[in-house]
Amino acid sequence: MTTEFVNIQPLYQPVKMPGEMAVFSPEVEAEIDRHLAKYPSSRSAILPLMFIVQRERGYLDPPGVSYLANRLGLRITDIWEVATFYSMLHTEPIGKYHIQVCKTLSCKLLGAQKITEHCSKKLGIKIGETTTDGKFSLLEVECLGSCGTAPMFQINFDYHENLTTEKVDQILDGLR
Ligand code: FES
Repeated sequence: MTTEFVNIQPLYQPVKMPGEMAVFSPEVEAEIDRHLAKYPSSRSAILPLMFIVQRERGYLDPPGVSYLANRLGLRITDIWEVATFYSMLHTEPIGKYHIQVCKTLSCKLLGAQKITEHCSKKLGIKIGETTTDGKFSLLEVECLGSCGTAPMFQINFDYHENLTTEKVDQILDGLR
């Protein structure tokens, strides 16, 4: 039995592409090419490419999104649909350390709100804000799959579990 891949063509481009398009070094372009080569359809590489663009530009800024749409042969809206779905992808500038406090049931029952309030007070920012020095951003997110060690938060790619306010102080002070 043979498998045929159907290349689904993007619909028409309803959003005007921004004039400026991100430019990357030959090394980054080579990294992007390696990801594209793994998939029969370039659109399947959307997530790894988004993480590369975000890593290089700090967030998915309009020139970066325009680059992705161009490289993947997709509409700007296709890129935004994915970018706005995942809490690990950012369409606005964020702090160097992105604190994502889980607010779902297990964490909620075991004190997530106290953890969020403590972070907020300690950093002097509300949920959704970034400290003026650009170091910390605070967000509440849905379940991060670590319910057995609630309450927990994620900072960038690291999980911190069984949190207490003392433990939060230790973690944040270590990042200052
Ligand atoms: S409820 Fe917080 S990690 Fe699942």
